[in-house]
Amino acid sequence: MEKDIKKLISQMTLEEKAAMLSGSDSWHTAAVDRLGIPSVMMADGPHGLRRETGVRGESYPATCFPTGSALACSWDRALITRLGSALADECRSQGISIILGPAVNIKRSPLCGRNFEYYSEDPYLSSQTASAYIKGVQSKGVGTSLKHFAANNKETDRMTTDTVVDERTLREIYLASFETAVIEAKPWTVMCAYNKLNGEFCSENRYLLTDILRKEWGFEGMVVSDWGAVNERDDGVLAGLDLEMPTSFGVNTQKIIDAVKSGKIPAEALDRAVGHVLSLVLKCIEAKKSFPHTKTFTDSEHHALAREIASQCMVLLKNDGTLPLKKTGRLAVIGQFAKKPRYQGGGSSHIHPTMLDIPLDEIKKSAPGLTVLYSDGYDLSDETGAPDPALIDEAVKTAESADAAVIFAGLPDSFESEGYDRRHMKMPDSHNALIEAVSKVQKNTVVVLFNGSPVEMPWIGSVSAVLEGYLCGQASGGAAADILFGDVNPSGKLAETFPKKLSDNPSYLNFPGEKPNYVEYREGIFVGYRYYEKKQIAPLFPFGHGLSYTTFEYRGIKTDKTEIGDGDTLTVQVTVANTGKRAGKETVQLYVRDVESSIMRPFKELRGFEKVELEPGEEKTVSFTLSKRDFAYYDTELNSFEVESGTFEILAGGSSADTPLCQTVVYHSGAVRKPKYNKLTQIGEIAKNPAATALLQEFLAKFGLNIDIKALSQWIYEMPLRNIYLTGINIPQEEFDNLIEKLNNL
Ligand code: BGC
Repeated sequence: MEKDIKKLISQMTLEEKAAMLSGSDSWHTAAVDRLGIPSVMMADGPHGLRRETGVRGESYPATCFPTGSALACSWDRALITRLGSALADECRSQGISIILGPAVNIKRSPLCGRNFEYYSEDPYLSSQTASAYIKGVQSKGVGTSLKHFAANNKETDRMTTDTVVDERTLREIYLASFETAVIEAKPWTVMCAYNKLNGEFCSENRYLLTDILRKEWGFEGMVVSDWGAVNERDDGVLAGLDLEMPTSFGVNTQKIIDAVKSGKIPAEALDRAVGHVLSLVLKCIEAKKSFPHTKTFTDSEHHALAREIASQCMVLLKNDGTLPLKKTGRLAVIGQFAKKPRYQGGGSSHIHPTMLDIPLDEIKKSAPGLTVLYSDGYDLSDETGAPDPALIDEAVKTAESADAAVIFAGLPDSFESEGYDRRHMKMPDSHNALIEAVSKVQKNTVVVLFNGSPVEMPWIGSVSAVLEGYLCGQASGGAAADILFGDVNPSGKLAETFPKKLSDNPSYLNFPGEKPNYVEYREGIFVGYRYYEKKQIAPLFPFGHGLSYTTFEYRGIKTDKTEIGDGDTLTVQVTVANTGKRAGKETVQLYVRDVESSIMRPFKELRGFEKVELEPGEEKTVSFTLSKRDFAYYDTELNSFEVESGTFEILAGGSSADTPLCQTVVYHSGAVRKPKYNKLTQIGEIAKNPAATALLQEFLAKFGLNIDIKALSQWIYEMPLRNIYLTGINIPQEEFDNLIEKLNNL
């Protein structure tokens, strides 16, 4: 293929090459008929296909699977890969070669309007989810577009904002969410974000697009701009942005031509970008031979898959035993979401579903022997969200006359979407007031939430159970019914922390940023549970939390070594048992904790997870392999991930807040950090290095000061070398300079 590409490039004119670097319209790459180069088509993404019909705002029907927030709660790589494979089939059925997803931006604040599309606050979970998705899609000959690269974590000023992040935070949190997915799953394309990163637009950021993406991570695919993310097209080509989307109607093509003619863009840079686009096009064409663009599934099959996936994603947040519900007696179903469910978010990922489950109907179908009563509870068409006393009264009466009540509530469309951020973390007053009122008269009140990101739950103490349904796609209704009646045992675990209130969130003071077009990530690496744990702020529901209708017991943890070093791997085995009466699935979570560190580090960090299915009484042992990176932080002096020698704890359990198993290992780091000495070096720094200590003692002895540096007090330790004269000895400048030089030559 490389030969073909070189040959094609050698035959192309400058004008053809420049045109190749822009879409021919909103969704196609440019063709060159003369040379037989076809165009390929892309479409959104990520949780279903949005192939536009040509009429503004309309797209062809496609299966709407659970959105990113929900999907990540499955913690199930195999399931996510199956979803990816189904998405590829949907693409093939509509002639699409690349789906624009997955979206892996970190959930820095619960307020980001696009959180519903993103996976997690944790880069490991996010990147693993993305890898599984990419592998699934690409296994069927369809490409993906990992987006939005990078640090695109709010919607306010999204096309122009400057995201200011320090290097360590960028590496450990925001880039890490992309890194494993790029290295392991090799997405065919990466989409650069709209925003600036540390003063430079991502679309013209060489550090991101070339130094990190290609040189460090070995990315060999094509970089595409987010739709309209191009600022200066010629700078973009130089930085590593291959394809601009959508078309700029020739304006930027001319800019590229001019820049090549003036020498600003060297011929090699142009050919490199053209090569990346061509290689993607040829790959898509080649893939079609093995995976023809035909329909290989029925819509009902994919709807059933969407239901299965959704039922593995929803998270049972609270349950006093009211769930699962009985299939007999009288059940009050309350809230307009039961008839008009919210199951996806607004913006570029909005899908025209092939079919739609209505929760109320699905409840009736799941339990034909049950008397189901219904009441609106609130009016979705009232955008103010003000409680309607008449609707609440009616709902209370319905609830009173039933054995249990299920309230469908959450966030209406206008509360969150691509394009704008939420202003607060509250549900509409009408939903909150309804839940308060119903739970006063009905002790078996269950709340099912449809929302894309965390909400405050002022009523949490008054209700019996809460099922977090997120935006679980077109089969949300069926999946919710499956869980409510226990036809499916819930197994989702939160991929993000639910704080009690917005002000507990680490980004609270800096979201969306104090000035327009500017945000500083001042909380640094302390995002999500990394912050709440360190600050000992109890959340409403912790990261990794999720209940089941059965119970699990963590029985043992073993490592194959007790001491490891940089080149080693550590095998960890964790045994978990189902101690309840139902079959169920549990996600074993593995965290690593640096017990004592001179570097500021989170209390612990997620480094592994495995979802297992267990019959009642069954026990399984799952295995994890850890290596250097799992113990490391990003060292900004050495510009690499490094470990500080010392003791680490390997913690395992079913939630970040519940890790009953712990095994200790000692890490011996090979990192060589040559200290740099100068007149401001503190005596305590010298004391850390035996050779430097000996040298300084010998030096001082020459001037009549005989001391044991190791035995000095803290306040002397904090004295810089330049202040030695305070001990009463007179050291000539030349001798002092010699000392510094010798220390640096040790
Ligand atoms: C979004 C992308 C999307 C693209 C194409 C942009 O506004 O940020 O995620 O893929 O539009 O619809």
